[in-house]
Amino acid sequence: MSKELESLLKEERVFKPSSRILENSNVKRMMDVHNIENYEKLLEKAGNNPEWFWDNVANELKWFNPYNKVLKWDPPYAEWFLNGKFNIVHNALDRHAKGKNKDNIAYIWEGEDEETKKITFYELWREVNKFANALKELGIKKGDTVSIYLPMIPELPVAMLACAKIGAVHSVVFSGFWAKAFQERINDSESKIAITTDGFTRRGKMIPLKENVDTILDKTPSIKNLIVVNHAGLDIEMQEGRDLWWHEITANMEETCDTEEMDSEDPLFILYTSGTTGKPKGVVHVHGGYAVGIYATLKFVFDLKEDDIWWCAADIGWITGHSYIVYAPLLLGITSIIYEGTPDYPDPGRLWRMVENYKVTVFYTAPTTVRMFMKFGEKWPGKSDLSSLRLLGSVGEPINPEAWIWYYKYIGNENCPIMDTWWQTETGMHLITPLPISDLKPGSTVKPFPTIQADIYDEDGNSLKNKGGHLVIKSPWPSMFRTLYKDPQRYIDAYWSKFKDVYLSGDVGRIDEDGYFWIQGREDDVLNVAGHRISTAEVESALVSYKGVAEAAVVGKPDPIKGEEIAAFVVLKEGNRPSEDLKNSLKYHVRVEIGPIATPTYLNFVDDLPKTRSGKIMRRVIKAKVKGEDVGDITTLANPEAVDGLDRAM
Ligand code: WTA
Repeated sequence: MSKELESLLKEERVFKPSSRILENSNVKRMMDVHNIENYEKLLEKAGNNPEWFWDNVANELKWFNPYNKVLKWDPPYAEWFLNGKFNIVHNALDRHAKGKNKDNIAYIWEGEDEETKKITFYELWREVNKFANALKELGIKKGDTVSIYLPMIPELPVAMLACAKIGAVHSVVFSGFWAKAFQERINDSESKIAITTDGFTRRGKMIPLKENVDTILDKTPSIKNLIVVNHAGLDIEMQEGRDLWWHEITANMEETCDTEEMDSEDPLFILYTSGTTGKPKGVVHVHGGYAVGIYATLKFVFDLKEDDIWWCAADIGWITGHSYIVYAPLLLGITSIIYEGTPDYPDPGRLWRMVENYKVTVFYTAPTTVRMFMKFGEKWPGKSDLSSLRLLGSVGEPINPEAWIWYYKYIGNENCPIMDTWWQTETGMHLITPLPISDLKPGSTVKPFPTIQADIYDEDGNSLKNKGGHLVIKSPWPSMFRTLYKDPQRYIDAYWSKFKDVYLSGDVGRIDEDGYFWIQGREDDVLNVAGHRISTAEVESALVSYKGVAEAAVVGKPDPIKGEEIAAFVVLKEGNRPSEDLKNSLKYHVRVEIGPIATPTYLNFVDDLPKTRSGKIMRRVIKAKVKGEDVGDITTLANPEAVDGLDRAM
């Protein structure tokens, strides 16, 4: 890093937007139309009248039948755009396929092996129609759920959009999870159809996805058919009567398909995410409000215009990909990149070559990726011409100021503001975020988006200034999740019980003297490994499911690149002896049960775990040990000697 930037860091300088950005931004245009002088005034007006703001945005989308009320807020339940008839796909595809965007590129896809495909809005619409018709022939109707387990190939958005078009609910499972996770999610959502692929490559290595799925389909009674995309050309076994090739069932399908007129509040998808217990939470999003929220944020935060080339380098299996690769860019009618492979394959120049080749203008990634590239060094981005970039984004975890500055300097050439967007699977859209017109402080997510009332609370629900506390949201927003699938009580308990009528995010943060937010991380037992949410309980239950394991405790160990790494402490049942082999088998077991991202980096055998007198594992003590911090007050421990045992094990 240059001396100059280093000193900027110490000065805590504020980065001001250029006049070019100030003049040309979408938000400035919107303010001009409404005669609003500046962003502070917009925040004030929208804060006082959220319905005004969201009604304006919703009017840019097409409704089969207009809504007659913007919001009904009966905490903790919100309904948006009441009695409106709407379908997100009508807006994302139908209107473009018939309009002036027809021949514009919707997706530029690049495979790990550098194969590329360009798909226009019309072509995407046609593929979606054909697959939607195929689903209908297989008996899928409005309200049915379909489970999708696909890597980053064009068939993934096609499958999601086809479900939404006919009113079915999709449940996408990240292809990096092991098939067991797919099994659990199929069973929870009671899907009739599952979709996967024969295989795909990861860093040049073949992952035989269909073969993995075969190992679980005898334990998923709801599944009638498995649809298989022929992507890798593997010679696989197809089970008669159950398995169907994607290309065969779509071959003779009609190229048009009616779009189901949904109620604004009808479910669009379920996306499972980690919570504090072992069972993942099925976060439910709906057609109307979700569409309006993600459309507005992509338009104003990332300032996208028709000629932009947008690259959200996330996986579609997570909320970032659902909102900002699949739905929002299509709603805006712009071109996006979908990249199948890993960012540093075959070398750390891959992403930057793609930015140059496709003239990407706005690029969005996670801090863990930025830190990884920081480690490889600036020579890699230096080999490509990145001058097409005009805005950058960050999401998934706090970005440390060093990484922010590096990203700003070596990727953005000190020319691109960085939108550090805070949000969650549950929120569906960005909630606390800069806009391109904001003054930026490296490491801060700046301020709540218009209409969003965010705050930091102490234990008693008092607002805190410049002190760390619970990050809460005090008002509803259109793309908020509506419930947890089949678990309405958990929706209330996990998010709406600690403070009355206020959404508890599970994060801790601070608001500074300028009203800027600084998010510090999770306060619960959820780990953030390379921007992926993993619950300690899920990893622990995988560990104790292994024969010979009595108990396990899992905590996050801070890591300079990934944010956190997983550290596990395992107590064996009597008669079992610790060994390197057992350690490796246990790590492998977690990998198979959950997925490679959940594999513990550190695994230690201990005789005992520190526990309270009531028998609860004191993770706080283990965490302190792992971080090399003082363990604090341990007088409530039933077995203080276990603390020394941790020391010996590490
Ligand atoms: C974390 C990802 C700091 C946070 C969109 C949140 C962030 C969790 C940021 C949600 C950010 C996300 N700064 N932390 N800009 N963005 N987080 O559900 O802890 O996969 O609660 O959604 O990621 O993760 P999720």
